[in-house]
Amino acid sequence: MKKNSCTGKPELSAAKHKYRLLDLFCCAGGAAKGYNDVGFEVVGIDVNPQQRYPFTFIQADAFSLTPEFLMSFDAIHASPPCQSYSDLAKRNGNASKWPRLIDPVRDMLIDTGLPYVIENVEGAPLRNPIVLCGTMFPGLRVLRHRLFEVNFHFFAPPHGRHPRVHTFDKRKSHYGKTDDMVDFVQVTGGGNCTIAAARDAMGIEWMNKGELNEAVPPAYTRYIGNFILHHLRSGTSRKVAVGKETVWV
Ligand SMILES: C[S@@+](CC[C@H](N)C(=O)[O-])C[C@H]1O[C@@H](n2cnc3c(N)ncnc32)[C@H](O)[C@@H]1O
Ligand SMILES: [Zn+2]
Repeated sequence: MKKNSCTGKPELSAAKHKYRLLDLFCCAGGAAKGYNDVGFEVVGIDVNPQQRYPFTFIQADAFSLTPEFLMSFDAIHASPPCQSYSDLAKRNGNASKWPRLIDPVRDMLIDTGLPYVIENVEGAPLRNPIVLCGTMFPGLRVLRHRLFEVNFHFFAPPHGRHPRVHTFDKRKSHYGKTDDMVDFVQVTGGGNCTIAAARDAMGIEWMNKGELNEAVPPAYTRYIGNFILHHLRSGTSRKVAVGKETVWV
């Protein structure tokens, strides 16, 4: 086997070793699609059935997974439900109605020793999170800030000015002056744009409106996925299958 000239460790080309990523709290797979696009084999876990998840799907509670199962992957992404951290819940004073899952998820991921990503909304208690926005990715037309906590080298693209966003609200001065199939949109619980516009703006053609409201645009995780690949390929340790065992080399 060819060895890395610096580390002396075996060199694995992407072609020989397809990295596996576990997608916790996967919903209909917005995040999953981006990771798969850059070459990861993705397995999704959700407590609810997900008929439209485009990859291997297992219906399970994320907190019921064994350490052995978690560590059979090369990296883990987790998007725990964000309701308790959302502005809406804070405004309505009912944030405590939903479980606060970020701390237990982080503990679980740190215990694996794997590269991890925790995604959530602004206001969520992530550690040193990096914000990604639709304006950072050519081709997207969505204003959607999402926070990402990671344990590998990662930085965001430059954040430009927010453009005018399409509205159905007659009280807004630009009402009637935008087109939701051309201009930037906001995809949230309310009726801010049509489902066709939301799909087009987020680069997600297979989801219904409820799923789109929850989804990470795949462009975000294509971007993050490349950092994970770099980390896995250049890191000081990586996992290799030897027979039925997985070992660190
Ligand atoms: C914000 S959505 C994930 C969005 C997804 N990352 C995407 O990009 O499309 C959160 C998901 O967590 C699921 N969920 C909630 N509690 C769970 C648990 N204990 N175990 C597994 N999934 C859970 C919900 O059913 C929901 O689909
Ligand atoms: Zn922004």
